[in-house]
Amino acid sequence: MIVTTADLFKHCYGKYAVGAYNINNLEQCVGLFRGNLGKVKSNDDPVRPELAAPFIVQISRGARAYTDKRFLEAVIRTAEEVFPEAIFAVHLDHGTEEVCYDAIDSGFYSSVMIDASHEPFEKNVEITRRVVERAHEKGISVEAELGMLGGVEEDISVDEEHACLTDPDQAKEFVERTGCDSLAVAIGTSHGAYKFKGSQGLHFDRIREIQKRLPGFPLVMHGSSSVPRELVERINRAGGRLEGASGVPEDHYLPAAKLGVCKVNIDTDGRLVWCAVHREFFRDHPDQFDLRGPGKIFMAEYAQFIAHKNQKLGSAGQLDSVRQALSVGA
Ligand code: G3H
Ligand code: 13P
Ligand code: ZN
Repeated sequence: MIVTTADLFKHCYGKYAVGAYNINNLEQCVGLFRGNLGKVKSNDDPVRPELAAPFIVQISRGARAYTDKRFLEAVIRTAEEVFPEAIFAVHLDHGTEEVCYDAIDSGFYSSVMIDASHEPFEKNVEITRRVVERAHEKGISVEAELGMLGGVEEDISVDEEHACLTDPDQAKEFVERTGCDSLAVAIGTSHGAYKFKGSQGLHFDRIREIQKRLPGFPLVMHGSSSVPRELVERINRAGGRLEGASGVPEDHYLPAAKLGVCKVNIDTDGRLVWCAVHREFFRDHPDQFDLRGPGKIFMAEYAQFIAHKNQKLGSAGQLDSVRQALSVGA
């Protein structure tokens, strides 16, 4: 069932992080729901309570435009019927003001992200404040962003030089003035498959400072894919050319969660799973052209990948506890 993002954050704060996974198509959606229930091989597998996790499905503007936003919404609604045990929130990823209003008015989203982080501070406050007012009228919560991640998100590219970490004092002022419900903070990560060079990594000191100014307030980590080396090697062995790709070590998720990071955004890793499966399939079966062959393998591998991620986030095994906290049936 679809729940509020706020309820998921209330349950996880300081203990574990909820995975926020981007989807673009049907196979990704099916793999995502299966993975969050521990149904690794098929829809009909029994739920595995030790793997079952609450999660957030997120849709970017690019994903909405890829086919038509209504297809994705319909796919998620159908997944809710096919997997009645699932407890999840639906989130708009990196919205503009206009797209946030469209998502708020649709009544489908649990929460929206207004990303005005590329604007000067005062303008970011102004835009975020307007979105918060519209969203709160409908009981929808708002994630905002302060600071700038490196890399490419939607149509905006930020080079390393201009990426800047979130200032803790500004974060407190921003939250107080905008009334946003969670804050995406720049803490050293970036979007995509090339996050760190040399000894770069997550800035735990910065997260700690932000949490000190905003105790109990949910923080969000974008650009959290771990870019697993084995996936990159599989892709390269099957004809790909991803050189120097690197991500956030998975063992950093839980320490970040203990410092108030409630939502961990993962998109790139899912794309890498897709790429590895499809490259290998067509390399190994040059005579085949049926989309269902690699599609079936992808759904199972993606489910396995999600179950693994949730173990690293600490959300695996939390589903029953969330159900009890929300007092909802299976
Ligand atoms: O933050 C960006 C997400 O990975 C979404 O990517 O805009 O290509 O859908 P996308
Ligand atoms: P990755 O590129 O690390 O998967 O980050 C995704 C993200 O932040 C989506 O908003
Ligand atoms: Zn992001």
